[in-house]
Amino acid sequence: MNQVSVLGVTGSIGTSSLDVISRYPEQYRLYSVAAHSNWQKTAEIVKKFQPEKVAMWNPEAAEKLSKELNCEVLQGMEGLLELCSDKQTDVVINGLVGSVGCLPTIRAIECGKRVGLANKETLVMAGEVIEKKLKENPKAILLPIDSEHSAIFQCLAERPVSEVESIQLTASGGPFRNLPLADFNSITIEQALKHPTWSMGPKITIDSATLMNKGLEVIEAHFLFRVSYDQIKVVVHPQSIIHSMVQFVDGSLMAQLGAPDMRVPIQLSLSYPRRLPLPCERVDLAALQQLSFSAPDFQKFPCLRLAYQAGRRGGTAPAILNAANEVLVPQFLAGKIQFTDIPRLLESCLEDSVIADQPDLNTILTADAQARQLASAKVSASGVLQT
Ligand SMILES: NC(=O)c1ccc[n+]([C@@H]2O[C@H](COP(=O)([O-])OP(=O)(O)OC[C@H]3O[C@@H](n4cnc5c(N)ncnc54)[C@H](OP(=O)(O)O)[C@@H]3O)[C@@H](O)[C@H]2O)c1
Repeated sequence: MNQVSVLGVTGSIGTSSLDVISRYPEQYRLYSVAAHSNWQKTAEIVKKFQPEKVAMWNPEAAEKLSKELNCEVLQGMEGLLELCSDKQTDVVINGLVGSVGCLPTIRAIECGKRVGLANKETLVMAGEVIEKKLKENPKAILLPIDSEHSAIFQCLAERPVSEVESIQLTASGGPFRNLPLADFNSITIEQALKHPTWSMGPKITIDSATLMNKGLEVIEAHFLFRVSYDQIKVVVHPQSIIHSMVQFVDGSLMAQLGAPDMRVPIQLSLSYPRRLPLPCERVDLAALQQLSFSAPDFQKFPCLRLAYQAGRRGGTAPAILNAANEVLVPQFLAGKIQFTDIPRLLESCLEDSVIADQPDLNTILTADAQARQLASAKVSASGVLQT
């Protein structure tokens, strides 16, 4: 029996994780859960799955949940770290959104856990630190949950990086793939929240519309698979059937296909190297008629260019980009800035930040905090406030 901790249990990844766990009660048990403030949904989950430990980030929500369940509820970062260190936990599924996911990932690695990582922000911020921690803790294993990285992981099938020519990271292109650049200034929140193929939390949905999500995934791929940025190509594939590909040096192109369903990579992160049955939609190739591909438009989606730029610069640049983006996306969702202000202010934050090389964790966390302050100040000073 594998005991599983699901961080971000109330979110989109959390919900899919619960579905997978509940299909295999002889193999997986939900041992602990964490959420931010949605104590009502967490209470329902706890009543149904009876985990041993519960954590809520928000202290008021933790208190309400504790009263509702008549049990101890852990709080804040300490709570998340305790779940990751628990000796009874075998697997941590990190479905937290944002840079808050970084320290729990590190703790889980230090404690030798299997980590199913959906929280890409972890690797964007602290890729080199994570790499070092994995070397120091050979019992720990990090398995990607992002569907693209799960696909690459499967296509690589443990071949050495010297056999890889390039990684072809597929992108749906988001809802504005065909929108003329001239119309980008009038993009509304509702339009940006409508993803054509995936159903996800609000932050990643906006990141998918700006293509920042793909940019973060480029950086994530660099650290996960140790390939250079020149070897990572983004290819727009609107059907989201091919989840990514690996081009090998002999010209063979390996792809992983499947219907867009996050339960597939989540389940694989639990069961790897085995595969378990999953009654999800199958791809009907004959019915598909066509799969299309095109190059991304860096002019319409400057966030993708900025991510390559920050990744190539290295040091704290990706952490700064990520933190500023985490400030700007909620500002867009609150109607305070326009869609096109996201890349504009991001670029300005990168330009105005001092980038540290080979940062340790403290330097990364400081850079993250400073970038948040800078981005907030830029929103206030930018004169684009609509409210
Ligand atoms: N959704 C997808 O299909 C998908 C695909 C690939 C990768 N990812 C990645 O997976 C991560 C989660 O995405 P999502 O779409 O599942 O997001 P989501 O639906 O917004 O869910 C986020 C979850 O994290 C919890 N949370 C947020 N801050 C927390 C904190 N400080 N402490 C404890 N819990 C916290 C939330 O709790 P509350 O509900 O209480 O706020 C919620 O359970 C992101 O990094 C995303 O990029 C998602």
